[in-house]
Amino acid sequence: MSKIAILEIDGNKFELPVIVGSENEAAVDISKLRDISGVITLDPGYKNSGSCKSEITFLDGELGILRYRGYSIEELAEKSHFLEVSYLIIFGELPSVERLEQFENDIRKFTLVSEEMKIILDGFPRTAHPMGVLSALTSALTAFNPKSVDADNEKDMYDAVCKTIAKFLVIATWTYRKSMGYPLNYYDNTIGYVENFMNLMFKLPTGPYTANPIIIDALDKLFILHADHEQNCSTSTVRMVGSSHAGLFASISAGVSALWGPLHGGANQAVLEMLEEIHATGGDADKYLAKAKDKNDPFRLMGFGHRVYKNFDPRAKIIKKAADEVLATLGVNDPILEIAKKLEVSALEDEYFKSRNLYPNVDFYSGIIYRALGIPTDMFTVLFAIGRLPGWIAQWKEMRENKEPIGRPRQIYTGYPLREYVKS
Ligand code: ACO
Repeated sequence: MSKIAILEIDGNKFELPVIVGSENEAAVDISKLRDISGVITLDPGYKNSGSCKSEITFLDGELGILRYRGYSIEELAEKSHFLEVSYLIIFGELPSVERLEQFENDIRKFTLVSEEMKIILDGFPRTAHPMGVLSALTSALTAFNPKSVDADNEKDMYDAVCKTIAKFLVIATWTYRKSMGYPLNYYDNTIGYVENFMNLMFKLPTGPYTANPIIIDALDKLFILHADHEQNCSTSTVRMVGSSHAGLFASISAGVSALWGPLHGGANQAVLEMLEEIHATGGDADKYLAKAKDKNDPFRLMGFGHRVYKNFDPRAKIIKKAADEVLATLGVNDPILEIAKKLEVSALEDEYFKSRNLYPNVDFYSGIIYRALGIPTDMFTVLFAIGRLPGWIAQWKEMRENKEPIGRPRQIYTGYPLREYVKS
């Protein structure tokens, strides 16, 4: 039997339908609220508002559950690989062996990025943050692919998916090459996607380069763990921009900008900067723990806390294990990583953090693992973006296929009432 919610305002009662999702999550459907009652809801930060119905990712912050298309993140991280998970997230089902091979081949058709993109890249200073450059280059791809994707045309949409996955990886690594003053590398269609990432980043014309398979495996896992996370800030941005029927590249470029912020994807860089600061100032982790607890100090412990996971972040558990394995296998001995371990133990035992359910999040461990893998700090958020790309594409595609209306929230105006203009 369908449920209803009753809202009473000034003695008037309004009935609102209650929608229940496939995991029994309930939502009061207020889409007609203003029409029937004249009021709207106010929810800054959208802590209590669903913006859409989605079949892609299920997340339960209280129980620490994360699933893509019904498959648990733990199982996917252990048994699958990034391009297979990308296919699953975007198209809804795991591909057969033949289908996956075809998908990988179709991506390879688009791995060459226009030489003219290099001219745009050239215009940036070497000191520019890679995320800013990545956002601009992603947007520039629109100019080189001007035909907007017809989301109703399956072939068109499929090609756009392959093209985006192919070109985004190349331009993402070019942001690093530019910052180092190195010549730009090309994608090698004879090797895998994640191996290509390492080659594109680190291969120099002066000698041979072979990426360490342990690093490739760890990165593949990290990309899977980041691949989607339902309606977070950057994904909501991608859906919102796309809801005006802006193209896929333009929408993803906006998503990159949203991800850049230190309260979102930029946290992995912020974690490392914080650890480096603790190290540079004598290594006293407890001092920083005290600063984070001090209400008169705006400092927050980067890499702790999460908007939806108030128990633990299931991705953080998997990454922590991967981080331990990678550090042990590579034999990394790094004082920064020692500080991270100390901070983690102290915070997990601290009453302030325990009572607020503040646990290390995925960014805490991903920052550590990226450092151990030799990835430069300001590329950390770019790696997050590479991982999140299939999620952004899938959410954009779903939004267009569901024919969602343009995103246009309302507001409660709190400014001046009408004033008369008086010339000064
Ligand atoms: N350090 C110290 N105190 C914290 C922290 C932190 N990292 N995070 C939250 N708190 C405290 C707040 O001060 C608040 O305390 P109070 O109840 O005494 O006022 C309480 O915990 C609740 O905090 P909110 O900000 O209301 O929690 P919210 O869910 O809105 O914020 C957020 C989540 C933004 C992630 C926050 O925990 C934070 O800033 N963390 C550090 C940045 C970070 O790691 N971001 C990455 C998020 S994961 C991702 O994007 C993939």
